[in-house]
Amino acid sequence: MELVECTKEYWEFVRLLRMDERVLDGFIEQVEITPEQQEKYMTKYSHCYRIALINNQPAGFVGAITDDIRVCTHPDFQGKGLGKFMLEECMKIWPTSYAKVKINNLASNKLFLAAGFETTGNDNTFIYYKKS
Ligand SMILES: CC(C)(COP(=O)(O)OP(=O)(O)OC[C@H]1O[C@@H](n2cnc3c(N)ncnc32)[C@H](O)[C@@H]1OP(=O)(O)O)[C@@H](O)C(=O)NCCC(=O)NCCS
Repeated sequence: MELVECTKEYWEFVRLLRMDERVLDGFIEQVEITPEQQEKYMTKYSHCYRIALINNQPAGFVGAITDDIRVCTHPDFQGKGLGKFMLEECMKIWPTSYAKVKINNLASNKLFLAAGFETTGNDNTFIYYKKS
């Protein structure tokens, strides 16, 4: 596993994974993203993202925009510790970042706890996590 910059060659991977119906439910916003919208978005924010590679193939992404973490492992690579790896690396790059996870997102809630995050609060929709 390795983490690399989110260079242009990975923008389409992120777009397709972000819209994959197998992961979509985990995200707060569930929208269709066109290639043009992705290009515009990534031109602005790609420095806030990293890509996880397994055998040189993109397998997931992690990012922090104004310290707000988003993380996703491609379904083909889930359950192998990649999410945990990405969060560990993410905290090295953006040490003050935090997460806001949907209460019903079991995998993600488990992931943040397994990666050593602590709950800092919750409301009816989200649980908030930070690492001390
Ligand atoms: C959440 C997500 C990133 C986890 O990625 P992953 O690479 O499968 O996670 P890992 O293999 O590193 O697992 C980390 C921990 O979470 C647990 N976990 C992961 N998926 C789980 C699931 N579906 N059910 C229960 N526990 C799960 C693992 O057991 C592991 O715990 P352990 O270290 O105590 O054994 C992945 O399920 C995903 O991309 N989901 C859709 C997108 C999403 O919801 N993103 C979060 C938005 S904030």
